[in-house]
Amino acid sequence: MADRKATLTVDGLDNPVELPVYSGTLGPDVVDVRGLGAEGLFTYDPGFMATSSCQSAITYIDGAKGVLLHRGYPIEQLAKESNFVEMCYLLLFGELPDDAQYADIEKRISNHTMVHDQINNFFKGFRRDAHPMSILCGVVGGLAAFYHDHMDITKAEDREISAIRLIAKMPTIAAMSYKYNIGQPFNYPRNDLNYAENFLYMMFSNPCEEYKTNPVFAKAMDRIFMLHADHEQNASTSTVRLAGSTGANPFACISAGIAALWGPAHGGANEAVLNMLDEIGDDSEENIQRFVDKAKDKDDPFRLMGFGHRVYRNFDPRAKVMKETCDEVLAELGMADDPQLKIAKRLEQIALEDEYFIERKLYPNVDFYSGIILKAMGIPTNMFTVIFAVSRTIGWISHWHEMITGDYKIGRPRQLYIGHPQRDYPAK
Ligand code: ACO
Repeated sequence: MADRKATLTVDGLDNPVELPVYSGTLGPDVVDVRGLGAEGLFTYDPGFMATSSCQSAITYIDGAKGVLLHRGYPIEQLAKESNFVEMCYLLLFGELPDDAQYADIEKRISNHTMVHDQINNFFKGFRRDAHPMSILCGVVGGLAAFYHDHMDITKAEDREISAIRLIAKMPTIAAMSYKYNIGQPFNYPRNDLNYAENFLYMMFSNPCEEYKTNPVFAKAMDRIFMLHADHEQNASTSTVRLAGSTGANPFACISAGIAALWGPAHGGANEAVLNMLDEIGDDSEENIQRFVDKAKDKDDPFRLMGFGHRVYRNFDPRAKVMKETCDEVLAELGMADDPQLKIAKRLEQIALEDEYFIERKLYPNVDFYSGIILKAMGIPTNMFTVIFAVSRTIGWISHWHEMITGDYKIGRPRQLYIGHPQRDYPAK
């Protein structure tokens, strides 16, 4: 129900238009502009700078204060006290699981980690040097061809099993895309390992030598999964909702989300961070400063990757936790003197002190640190966004589920048309 009203006066309209104003539990109020269409008016907001596209009870962000809550719980507390599987339950079902519920979801996820054997054949159709994100887009979309036994989105049981299948199979497909790329045999998942350990095992184990999980790496991996799990209506989640609003099956919707995540302004950023560190190359002070100057130059398209965020205009709370994990992993590996890390640390310092970055509130974001951790753990750069996609699958599917079980319409924006007015086809 609307608590208040906004009144819009538009030149040329006989009467002012009254629009309901709604308040959520937290965050800015919203003006319901749906009635404007009947007055022959549309709102105009490219980039969705001030548009709420839906109601949601999953995640809350206060960008100015650097707050991120999942189902009300601060990310810093979840990262410390919880784990990725528990977070999956929380995001999908709304509450933390009790012991029995936790054991049940963990078992269900483990039981679904294997992919249909025919899926192996999909991989053979790709070039070995294909970017693993392109493989992921294709194979995840293709899952609909394998699991159509439970794809009726109007049935709760089908929605749930599809969600569990996606959470469970994403690490397997991600690791397979890596193994295919480097020409090694696929590893079957192992149910005796936890989610993060199993992923590292599938990535790094090979038939010639025993693979032992490093507990520091497994903890770091789990944190990376947790810190990327959801972020309200970001570009890829909005893509999943838009695709889902047509009634498309969940595998197709998640594949659309993966495609949207791939761009360097979104999930491609952690890969872009490492490419940028490579491009900077030389860790001398003059060289680093040269790149900082390029980032500040309006005529130069170069930007410092891993800095800035559309919503956080204060420190990204995920970045704080990620930085801690980054320090732990680097200490474990004795890599404090790595030249690339030296560049990263110097950039971080400059950005926190330079007027240009301070004024624009451009802080290191979560991807700045996650990229460095992944690199240190031996994960190749082209797998970074794939790992982001594995983490974000729970967020995507939770939003899809929330939308499908709520009141929704097909997403169909309108436009400000700036093309030719009607004209006649030239006579021949
Ligand atoms: N380096 C240098 N300058 C920057 C950067 C950067 N990384 N980011 C923003 N700016 C500047 C812009 O040039 C602009 O300056 P101006 O006001 O003088 O014109 C100002 O800061 C505002 O930038 P916008 O592009 O308007 O901010 P927007 O909210 O649209 O973009 C974005 C946010 C895309 C994240 C941007 O900061 C960026 O490109 N960062 C680098 C890529 C990156 O790290 N993306 C990861 C996002 S986090 C995630 O997806 C998990």
